[in-house]
Amino acid sequence: MNVITEKLAIRGGKKAVPDGTIKKWPPIDDTDRQAVLDSLNGANHAFGPNCQAFEKEWAEWNGSRHAITTNSGTAALHMAIVACGCGTGDEVIVPAYSWSSSATCILQHSCIPVFVDVDFNSINIDAAKIEAAITPKTKAIIAVHLHGLPCDMDAIMAIAKKHNLKVIEDACQAHGAKYKGRKVGSIGHCGAFSFNQNKCLCTGEGGMFVTDDPEMLAAAQSLWSFGETRAPSESRDYHVYAMGWMYRNNDLTAAFGRSQLKKLDGFLARQKENAELLSELLRGTPGLILPREIPGAEHNWYNYTMRFDMAELNRRECPPHLETLGGQEKGRASDLRYKIVKAMNAEGVQTGVWQSFILPAMTVFQAKNGFGHGHPWSSPHAQPVDYSVGQYPSAQRHCDTHTGMTMPLRAPNGEEAVRATAEGIRKVMENVGELK
Ligand SMILES: Cc1ncc(COP(=O)(O)O)c(C=O)c1O
Repeated sequence: MNVITEKLAIRGGKKAVPDGTIKKWPPIDDTDRQAVLDSLNGANHAFGPNCQAFEKEWAEWNGSRHAITTNSGTAALHMAIVACGCGTGDEVIVPAYSWSSSATCILQHSCIPVFVDVDFNSINIDAAKIEAAITPKTKAIIAVHLHGLPCDMDAIMAIAKKHNLKVIEDACQAHGAKYKGRKVGSIGHCGAFSFNQNKCLCTGEGGMFVTDDPEMLAAAQSLWSFGETRAPSESRDYHVYAMGWMYRNNDLTAAFGRSQLKKLDGFLARQKENAELLSELLRGTPGLILPREIPGAEHNWYNYTMRFDMAELNRRECPPHLETLGGQEKGRASDLRYKIVKAMNAEGVQTGVWQSFILPAMTVFQAKNGFGHGHPWSSPHAQPVDYSVGQYPSAQRHCDTHTGMTMPLRAPNGEEAVRATAEGIRKVMENVGELK
């Protein structure tokens, strides 16, 4: 591999990724325009025919029996908590590193999140640490397929079976990712997808709840539509039977989703090709830990996440304790990480820092005050829970040393964008001494 000795863009050199190289996501064509226009010209813009068709088509595509279209992935996760029969004070196990709502969805039903550290290699929940977190109050485990890499589902399902727990798959980033040949979302008891702007299927905002179980479907549907028992497409009595929200999707968004779904397999294939090429081009770059796949798991490459090997970069590792929160402390691993990311951005590489806090470090958990008066932790139904951040060293190490990108992996980007991005990353890593 030739070492790149050109001047870094952050020091006034030429950018490795010229402006305009990376194309925006998602690709929109006339089929999308026509689908949305047809919905607009139709008679039902609320929960209309496109919503019902989208549910059916998504369920078929994913290998799930039932689907409910929602206005976000977070809504679908909240529905999953309810579908699992969780109630005030019940505990739900969740990884210590994820998007905030993988954990706040638990609070939304007055339940208590119990965090488990991640495995540094996969960045997913460390299945070997789950059993130690189970108590008589535990009802469910949320398996987040982070960045599109499936969790170790055999191990998680076996633990759930042994302890009579439900498994919720947070597949919000993992459309089309497979574990032992099965699409994620169809392996646990229920699952949630997001169709937000950045996701592998984009409808602007939106989501989908999936399950094979008709009772879980009914519970989720009730929460989804005001606590009623009938869907808006049925004859409703408008009676509220249980606590409900308004999580329904609308027809225009569903029309957009249906037309994108027709192209999703092609988008995912391109994403995989791009990720594989990027890994090939970056292999051997000093100071970089590249993403890995685990046996039996097929990544969808939603986010290409690398870690900086701080030991190799001659810096001390970030000690996993409270003072290290938020990338603020001087001399921290993450200070160097932010400098490297800034230099890569100057080269035109669209990489960033995803979550700069592990979940238990977030104020809502440290303050234990979700709804005022300390609820739900103060409920007589809840038992004390410890959120000391030192319990999650792998999540903290990942949090402080990662950088990740969704571009240039997304279609329609291809070889040109990937090669330029790899060049920008290597250029910075090979000249990292200039940043110290
Ligand atoms: C892992 C994970 N879970 C849940 C969500 C929530 O999805 P939404 O933004 O559609 O509510 C996201 C979205 O960013 C996510 O990445």
